[in-house]
Amino acid sequence: MNLNRNDLCWCGSGLKYKKCHIEFDKKLEILEAQGFEIPPREIIKTKEQIEGIRKSAEINNAVLDLVAKNIKEGMSTEEIDKLVHDYTISQGAVPATLNFEGYTKSLCTSINDEVCHGIPSEHRILKNGDIVNIDVSTILNGYYSDASRMFIIGEASEEAKKLVEVSKECLYKGIEAVKPWGFLGDIGAAVQEHAEKHGYSVVRDFGGHGIGLEFHEEPFVAHNGNSGEGMVLVPGMVFTIEPMINAGSYEIVIDSEDDWTVFTEDGSLSSQWEHTILVTEDGVEILSK
Ligand code: MF3
Ligand code: CO
Repeated sequence: MNLNRNDLCWCGSGLKYKKCHIEFDKKLEILEAQGFEIPPREIIKTKEQIEGIRKSAEINNAVLDLVAKNIKEGMSTEEIDKLVHDYTISQGAVPATLNFEGYTKSLCTSINDEVCHGIPSEHRILKNGDIVNIDVSTILNGYYSDASRMFIIGEASEEAKKLVEVSKECLYKGIEAVKPWGFLGDIGAAVQEHAEKHGYSVVRDFGGHGIGLEFHEEPFVAHNGNSGEGMVLVPGMVFTIEPMINAGSYEIVIDSEDDWTVFTEDGSLSSQWEHTILVTEDGVEILSK
């Protein structure tokens, strides 16, 4: 798409190209010529799309708040599924995981050594000392949002509490590393440094992802890596940061019976927090948390 200076900008602002994204596009062209990986235009959100994602995220946040209020020892993860499903539908939205690639539940519930993608079940009862990841994603008017939080059931071990806390810090280190015209690798480097400083490891096989018009878009957001490497970050990009931090090794295995649940290979505890974020002109905005 080659626009003339006086054409309307591609971003839908209603402004002429020369008054809007022309400098932005030139900057990207130069970076690309210098060998940097630049984001494809399809993943740079317009104002209208950002508004749509923001509304979706508001519901996603409310769902997580509702879970926070209700989660307790003795509850089955199936009950959480029902809570999430019914509330989301009542808001005119749809859980993004429902019927996604054959997944039949409205969220993922991953307990203790489960890294992610744990499936709610009436047989899985939350017990004292469990650490649980509640991963919720919402579609509203075609716009996607995604976030997860950890919950400690009753009294957990010091070891478990520390992992939950440090993994949250890892997420925030990653978010703080997001700068317009910075790099994707800045995020992974910040997360990895913090996790390893505490003797933990960062899961490699799963990562964050672009999101907004689809559940999973480009780019893949690694939670390990080197600063100054990978895709250039520009205003209008929306993606998740969702580090999975293991107390032991970063190796994982996928349950051969359900084909979804991801476990730590060594049986060590795993903890994850996830936010959906927007890269802005001067930093970052958290959309879903
Ligand atoms: N929220 C998870 C993610 O970050 C959902 C994975 S898809 C599922 O992408 F089907 F397992 F739910
Ligand atoms: Co996600």
